[in-house]
Order: sequence, then C-alpha cells, then structure tokens
Amino acid sequence: MITQEDSHVQHVKAYFKEYTYDMFMMNVTPEPEEMILFSNWVDTLNNECINSFEAVRTSAQTTEVDLVRQNGETLHLLNFSSYNYLGFSYHPEVIRAAQDAVAKFGLGASSSPVISGTYGIHRALEDKLLEFFGMPDRGISLFSSGYAVNLGVIQAFAKPGNCIVLDSNAHMSILEGAKLSGAKVKYFRHNDMEHLEKILEEVCDGYTRVLVGVEGVYSGDGDYGNLKETVQLAKKYGAYTLVDEAHSVLVAGENGRGVCEMYGVLDEVDLYVMTFSKGFGGIGGALLARKEISRYINYYAKCRMFSCALDPAVTGGMLKALELAASEEGKIRRRRVQENADYFLQLLKGKVNLGVSNSWVLTVIYGNDKNTLDLNNYLQRKGLDTSIMQFPAVPKNEARIRMFVTSEHTREQIEKAAAILLEAAEQFNFLSN
Ligand SMILES: Cc1ncc(COP(=O)(O)O)c(C=O)c1O
Repeated sequence: MITQEDSHVQHVKAYFKEYTYDMFMMNVTPEPEEMILFSNWVDTLNNECINSFEAVRTSAQTTEVDLVRQNGETLHLLNFSSYNYLGFSYHPEVIRAAQDAVAKFGLGASSSPVISGTYGIHRALEDKLLEFFGMPDRGISLFSSGYAVNLGVIQAFAKPGNCIVLDSNAHMSILEGAKLSGAKVKYFRHNDMEHLEKILEEVCDGYTRVLVGVEGVYSGDGDYGNLKETVQLAKKYGAYTLVDEAHSVLVAGENGRGVCEMYGVLDEVDLYVMTFSKGFGGIGGALLARKEISRYINYYAKCRMFSCALDPAVTGGMLKALELAASEEGKIRRRRVQENADYFLQLLKGKVNLGVSNSWVLTVIYGNDKNTLDLNNYLQRKGLDTSIMQFPAVPKNEARIRMFVTSEHTREQIEKAAAILLEAAEQFNFLSN
C-alpha cells in the first residue's frame, strides 16, 4: 500500500527540479522526515550540477564575482545579485575606518546596548545620522540588522487591541513584526490608496492606535511607495506611519535621505526604518523617530534589548559610509545608480515583463515558480548572477529575476547582462509578445 507520505516522497523525487518552497512543508509526523528529504534533495541538485543557491563568494561584492558552487565548480559572473548600491562595502576608506574601529574596540560589543554594549562609536553614529537627516531633535535606535528593526519596532509600538495596516507586498520582517505585536493586521492592495482609505475608515475610531506600514522602494517589486498619499491619508485618519527605506536610504533623494525626501514627507513620517546592509554596504539598521518613541523602543523592542549591540567595526565602517554619502562623492554615486538603472530598464523595456519596477531594483517576471532552479542555473552558466525570487518572497507563480543596479556597474556590464537576460527569455519563453 502506498501511504500519503510515500507518495509525497515519490513526488519530490520525480519533480526534484521543479522546486517550490512549500514542497518540504507538509510533514507533521514526529520524525522530521521533510528535513531529511530536503537534505537529500540538495544532494541531488549538487550531483546534477544544477544548484545555483548558496554558492560561496571568494571575493568582495564588486560588479563581477568569483564563486564556488556547492558541487565545487567555480564561476566568474557579472554581479547583479548584491544590493551594495553605492559600492561602499568595498570602498577603501570604509574598510580602513572599520579596521581602525576593530583595533580600538575589539571584535564584538559583548553586551546588549541597554546594559554595557553602547560604545562611543555607536553614539557617534547616532549623532551623525541625525545630522545627515537634518533632524537634531529626533532620536535614533540602532539595531544589529535591518530585519530586527522592523521586528522590534513594530512589536514594541503596537499592542494587542491596536491595528496595523500593511501594503500587501510589505517585507517579511514587517509582517513578522506585526504578527509578534499581537495587534490586528489588515492588508491593502499594493500601492492602492483607495483600498488603504477604505480600511482606515473602518479601523480608525479615535480610540485605537493604528499604524500604516509601507516601503520607500518595494524590495520585491522595485517600484516606489505612494508615500505622499499614504502620509496624507494617515494624517487624515489619525494613524501613524512606518516607512521602510531599506532599499532607498542613501540612494534616493537629493541628499540620500530616501524616497521620503524625494516626495517631501520626511518630517511627517513617524517611524523611518533604514538598514545598513544595502546603500551603506554593511550590516545593521536603525529607526529614526521622535525622541520619546526611540527611547521607548530601545527598551521595549525585545530583539534589541535581549541581543548584543551592533559590532564596533561595522559601526566604524558605517560612519565612514555616511560621511561619503553626504559628500560630493555620494551625490555622484547616487546619480550613477539612477543613470545605470534607467539604462538597464531602457534595454529591456517592451521585450520582457518588467512588472512595475522603475528603480534600481529591477525585476523581470517569468511567472512559474517551477522554472526557478533551471533558469537560475542557466543564467549563472551564461555569466550572470541575479537575485532570483519565488514564493514566499513574492506571490505564487509571480516568480521573478531581480537585479540590483549599482553605481559601480559599467555600461558594458549592463549591456552584457541585458543580452544574457533576453537570451534566457527566449529560451524559457518569457519574451513579451
Ligand atoms: C524592505 C526590506 N526591509 C528589511 C530588510 C531586512 O534588512 P537586512 O537584510 O539588513 O536585515 C530587507 C532585506 O532585504 C528588505 O528588503
């Protein structure tokens, strides 16, 4: 007799190339069989030389990278896979600043920021961030990852009985923070302001705290959030706003203050979230908010209070990245990101489905999740590394090739990448008609 479990195993074996995320999530028996199955599946992909994931980089995230696949193969690829938008992760001055900081403070902070993990260099970064945003009266809360900022801030800001209204395409860290808070969570259709208003009309009763969560540049879609209208609506209904500028801080706006600056709403946003892993080229993140809010978050965001402070070397590097971003060099790099992204978009427009992307996060939608493995393997073998995405990062069967355009890419690299993509589109049948 073939049991349900046996047939699941057979299904995985038969369709091992057509990977979907939920393929290994069905088992609830006492034995963790899905994990063994998953592990065997990874082995099979490696043996078949088609596993493009978790390849090891052997150098910095420059515009071309050397990597070693899990089966030991080495490849040299055009790098459109890392969100090192301004190239700061390997900027010599940033590296030197990090080296100086590690020499002075040692490797780790060795304590929670609220106990004994706050160093002079953390205070310096807080002060410089306030200066960068031109908001000396606000507060900064530093976190050891961007993910943790959303998780901790939302969990601490909203309570059971409150309501959180999120764009349906908001990042996983925002969704998880909302769940953790215990507040009621509602979603409005991506960037649909009529839908947002309808929900706000329902939930804003003057007694409940309501938080609206959106992004500056959407990480899965590559389009801009409707920040002006979102802030106006939130104000009209007495709600608070959280804007995640993970992919836009240092990159968007005349002075690098993000899409909030671009749309002239920086002063009106309540919770401004930034990460240091993208434009800054490091790791960590911060909340910019009213001083009272930031102080409270420092103590009540559990993943900050109960976790080690940002490491000093990275903090030193971030200080330098911020200084560069505020300088003429920052302006030049920002302009180049935009020019490069426009050029890449222009090469692909009308030929493939770009979805709604119109920023330096460029997406090409190929649809079927089951093509992800084959397609990514193909792209790498042709010389292009991207940040391919399928469910649960994006809705099912809206799988996409995501590329991060940086200030350091050359025209030639962009042209080569576009040519590889168009070849792939022909091969995998996702050219626009
Ligand atoms: C919109 C958004 N917010 C938060 C994060 C988490 O940031 P980090 O990777 O720095 O933890 C990401 C990560 O890609 C993101 O895209």
